[in-house]
Amino acid sequence: MKNVLLIVTGSIAAYKAADLCSMLKKAGMNINVIMTKNATNFIHPTTFEALTGNRCVIDSFDRNFEFKIGHISLAQSADICVVAPASANIIGKLACGIADDMASTTVMATKAPVLIAPAMNTNMYQNPIVQDNISRLSGFGYNFISPASGRLACGDIGEGKLAAVEDIYEEIMLHIGHDHDLAGQKVLVTAGPTCEAIDPVRYITNHSTGKMGYALARAAARRGADVTLVSGPTALKPPRGVSLISVLSAADMAKAVLEDAKAQDIYIMAAAVADFTPSQVSDHKIKKGTSMPMFEFSATTDILETLGHNRQGHEFICGFAMETEDLIDNAQAKLVKKNADMICANSIREAGSGFGTDTNRITLITHDETIKIDLMSKDEVSDAILDRIISIRKH
Ligand code: CTP
Repeated sequence: MKNVLLIVTGSIAAYKAADLCSMLKKAGMNINVIMTKNATNFIHPTTFEALTGNRCVIDSFDRNFEFKIGHISLAQSADICVVAPASANIIGKLACGIADDMASTTVMATKAPVLIAPAMNTNMYQNPIVQDNISRLSGFGYNFISPASGRLACGDIGEGKLAAVEDIYEEIMLHIGHDHDLAGQKVLVTAGPTCEAIDPVRYITNHSTGKMGYALARAAARRGADVTLVSGPTALKPPRGVSLISVLSAADMAKAVLEDAKAQDIYIMAAAVADFTPSQVSDHKIKKGTSMPMFEFSATTDILETLGHNRQGHEFICGFAMETEDLIDNAQAKLVKKNADMICANSIREAGSGFGTDTNRITLITHDETIKIDLMSKDEVSDAILDRIISIRKH
């Protein structure tokens, strides 16, 4: 179990730290919270105690405190130290080496990575002293998650709002969500549908939502990979720590993967790429008439097949096969035809699989074996796929 040390300082955003605690707890983390005295004016320590199951620490001279030397013990056991929200005061103290309470002494005593999420009035945040302190701390290896812009509690509009709790959570998960067993590896994932234009108004597409590809990109980033996500249009927020290349058509996607992206160690093609595209795109909107319009189609480039037949070295190439019948036979045929290393086969007919679901049931097919994976969330499926890829690449 990973240990998160959460330092909450005096800011109206302190209540949002409770949400963060709750998300981290659900992810199976052990959380210890230290509050500055000012933070207790905004939220009561019992909130954090109820959420974490651990005693909330407020002052280094707390006589009932059970640890030998409190700040050292918490500092040592932390896998990550998160200061959220971080006031101008704590940032200033840390930048100048002032350790005069439990929060500042503990941050200074930890060897764990430190993530600081500032939250304050815009003018304070933009004050050159605060900015200089942030640069100084960044130079020493402290990580910052920039505040958002918006309407602040004081009524001002501008930079200074605590970053979204989901973003802070995701940044924590990038550090400690998984062992970094893909560190140093370049991973490219394709995701989502493609859109093939008919005229300036209409296009042909499919039901892909991109959930599987986005989950794979997120999982690879949490495992320390350098991830490029080539995505057709989706309603999803790109995962943190991933380079997103947005594309529209199958031709755009082929160009992004085959020409623009530099050599990758692992390719995972989860996109639902159009196999056919209208041979001609009308310059004008096709008007209603007496006869139905007729379209001629031409084949698109098969990106997976092109990669498979033009290998550059020891790259691992993984494709997907979404089938309505003869799942395993069709997927095995795709593995051979496209010269891939693995195909993740899923049937659109099975409950819990297919477009738009949060779960998937896949079968991993390689040249040597066929492994059926139980129905699980797309996040868990992603880890199962990556576990398999890592294990194959080790041998
Ligand atoms: N794929 C691709 N480029 C294409 C079409 C498909 O890279 N132009 C990839 C998909 O991303 C997927 C795999 O090929 O990883 C299989 O896609 P799928 O649509 O299941 O199969 P197709 O090869 O298109 O064959 P069919 O539609 O006849 O089943």
